Amino acid sequence: MDKADKRIVLTGFMGVGKSTVARHLSYLAKEKKLDLDDFLEKEEKRKIPEIIETDGLDFFRDVETRNLSKILDETNARIISLGGGAWTTEKNRTLIKDCGCVTVWLESTFDHCWRNISFSKRERPLAKNKIQARKLFDERQKVYCLADWHFVINPGLNSFEVAKQIAKEIFLAEIH
Ligand code: S3P
Repeated sequence: MDKADKRIVLTGFMGVGKSTVARHLSYLAKEKKLDLDDFLEKEEKRKIPEIIETDGLDFFRDVETRNLSKILDETNARIISLGGGAWTTEKNRTLIKDCGCVTVWLESTFDHCWRNISFSKRERPLAKNKIQARKLFDERQKVYCLADWHFVINPGLNSFEVAKQIAKEIFLAEIH
């Protein structure tokens, strides 16, 4: 695949800052970005918590896969931030790999993610309490590490600085 066609996909646990980093990265690289959760909610005309609570998690995962597919096939977004569970579905990983995307796992400590989850206004049905979130966090590490790049977030950096580092180290290496 030509470097000019490559896309960057950000994955990682809830609260790690995928959407914010994607926004900064889009600004820095002057490339279009899309957030899977936002895209999905607009397409479905429903909020994620409502989908999960009304129709269940399996239904939501199918909706997520369908919308991921749509982003990959029908948009020209070069930077895509996933929801925290999207990369854990094998079908999604295959879709992403088949499109020649470069995947980046944004990794941070559980405490960092949990702090962001607790302060965020966003409702997260799969992280309603710390014990539930911690369990999911531990279970998912082995799947997140299947991403092409593993970017450990330095807790001293803000999300713009993180994006700058990604732009310098990963984006330049993979895209330009
Ligand atoms: C989920 C993460 C959420 C959202 C949904 C499920 C998960 O996205 O997709 O609530 O399974 O980790 P964020 O990672 O943006 O919070």
